[in-house]
Amino acid sequence: MKRPIAAIAGTGRGIPPTVVTNYDFPAMGIDTTHEWIVERTGIVERHLAREGETTCSMATDAGRIAMERAGVHPGELDTIILATATPDRLLPSTAVDVQASLGASRASAFDLSAACSGWLYGMTVAEGMIMSGVIETALVIGAEKLSSIVDWQDRSTCVLFGDGAGAVVLKRAKTGKGILSAYMRSDGTLAELLYRPEGGATVPITADVLERRSHLVKMAGREVFKHAVRSMSDAADRALDGARLTSADIDLLIPHQANTRIIEATAKHAGIPMDKVYVNVDRYGNTSSASIPIAIDEAIENGRIKEGSTVLLVAFGAGLTWASMVVRF
Ligand code: UT7
Repeated sequence: MKRPIAAIAGTGRGIPPTVVTNYDFPAMGIDTTHEWIVERTGIVERHLAREGETTCSMATDAGRIAMERAGVHPGELDTIILATATPDRLLPSTAVDVQASLGASRASAFDLSAACSGWLYGMTVAEGMIMSGVIETALVIGAEKLSSIVDWQDRSTCVLFGDGAGAVVLKRAKTGKGILSAYMRSDGTLAELLYRPEGGATVPITADVLERRSHLVKMAGREVFKHAVRSMSDAADRALDGARLTSADIDLLIPHQANTRIIEATAKHAGIPMDKVYVNVDRYGNTSSASIPIAIDEAIENGRIKEGSTVLLVAFGAGLTWASMVVRF
């Protein structure tokens, strides 16, 4: 008999309908060009949330679709893990709002903070809870309203990010399919390469904080870029080793979608040709914790992930944090 493992039973995404292209920025007073953004990042357009669209509403949309596809009713969920860097409010968690929206009355719910690696961290936590027998069924969501924390006066960051949510239902299964390996790391000595300096408990929001815009995202892009390539390459190796597989066994690599140059460097290091790499950063920008589950949902929909596909997932983000996972579908 096959040993039980935690398997993905359904996926979904919640994407706000408003699309902002690179060509829209000059009219918004942002000194940039389509050519600069495409050449440096590969991004062409991104979806941005509008009035009334929240981290909770996008997460709920994604979660509802994932549960329908998994054939799981809200009352069957044991836990909801919401990876996000953009909770709708700071107390309580946005996950409990999602729980209320879904009517998942039996579930525990909590937010997880690991920036762009958050959804893979959440999957690893959920897998641990399932395999230790604490729970049977989890909803793991990555959801972000990054447009609410970027500095729209800083052209070096505001053009990079998008809003959206992706979700999966993770269940105990005996099919031989599911999570084959997982790897997580952090390096807090590099926290200030990508952060929001003020506006938390140490320096709460004041008029001065708003004036100096220090509650918004600051990024040392070039430094982050170097660490991203190094960490994602290392993480890819670790997940393959953990699953006792080589790159030749991988049907699809889904890296965190921040920048096509980082994606290409990661794929090259892992020895995976670009025709086996999923790229949608051109259409979504960087959606942080939502990027990998959105990509998985699309890849299933368009046939890039099939029954039996072995998929390598690799993420990197603020913290710094990085993580990886091999999943058999
Ligand atoms: O989600 C995980 C975390 N984030 C990342 O992984 C992002 C990692 N970093 C990157 O992807 C890249 O570093 C960026 C795309 C953010 C920037 O690309 P870069 O090639 O590292 O450019 P740079 O920051 O070194 O800037 C080069 C030039 C500068 O001008 P000077 O000083 O050379 O005259 C910038 O002022 O490009 C200028 N610039 C822009 N020009 C037009 C910066 N932003 C823009 C812009 N449009 N939007």
